[in-house]
Amino acid sequence: MSSLPVAVRAGAVSGQPQPVIDAGGGLHLRPFVEADADVLVRAYADPAIERWHRRTLTGDEALEWVRGRAWHRWQAETGAEWAVVDGGVVVGRVGLPVLHLGEGVAEVGYWVLPEGRGRGVAGRALAALTDWLFVLGLHRIELMHSVLNQPSCRVAAKNGFGLEGTRRSALLHPDGWHDMHLHARLAPD
Ligand SMILES: CC(C)(COP(=O)(O)OP(=O)(O)OC[C@H]1O[C@@H](n2cnc3c(N)ncnc32)[C@H](O)[C@@H]1OP(=O)(O)O)[C@@H](O)C(=O)NCCC(=O)NCCS
Repeated sequence: MSSLPVAVRAGAVSGQPQPVIDAGGGLHLRPFVEADADVLVRAYADPAIERWHRRTLTGDEALEWVRGRAWHRWQAETGAEWAVVDGGVVVGRVGLPVLHLGEGVAEVGYWVLPEGRGRGVAGRALAALTDWLFVLGLHRIELMHSVLNQPSCRVAAKNGFGLEGTRRSALLHPDGWHDMHLHARLAPD
């Protein structure tokens, strides 16, 4: 019996500490720590982040978010989260809600705190993370957003995530089902 091809071997992520990634211009990505709980609570209280990420966070949930979503998922190689830091201050988050090493596929997600918006933070963080994922050996990075979320569509398009289509009525938001744009970027040859 022949075995399936594997894009990236198991252990390639959990076998290394989660890296700090330089995004240029004083911006870097680093793992979340428990001291970030307050900024996470504030982030998910922002109406735009609450709307598009479909949740709020209490202080206890924020700690669980750091330990579970941001730490255990790295160990399990099922996803990851990075704080986006500008001059020592957390201004946003970029992460991998989905990671399939064997298939060479991940999905990215991001938000930027209101005071950090409008100066290219999401795009630079996304570009730096995508470069790192391609060096890791991933083949395809996907990005999805509600068709009503124009700024996110712009961030995706400006960073090489081509629009592949619309997933109809694909995600339930507080105001009902939203059509979702599917964007993706492929590893360079
Ligand atoms: C989407 C988000 C991450 C963008 O972060 P950012 O660092 O401020 O993004 P930028 O300033 O680099 O780019 C936003 C782009 O959208 C454009 N834009 C902003 N508001 C817009 C609108 N209402 N309609 C169309 N385009 C808009 C900006 O002009 C900019 O494009 P440009 O660089 O060509 O001028 C941020 O607004 C955010 O966190 N929003 C709430 C959470 C969210 O939407 N997360 C993504 C879920 S998929």
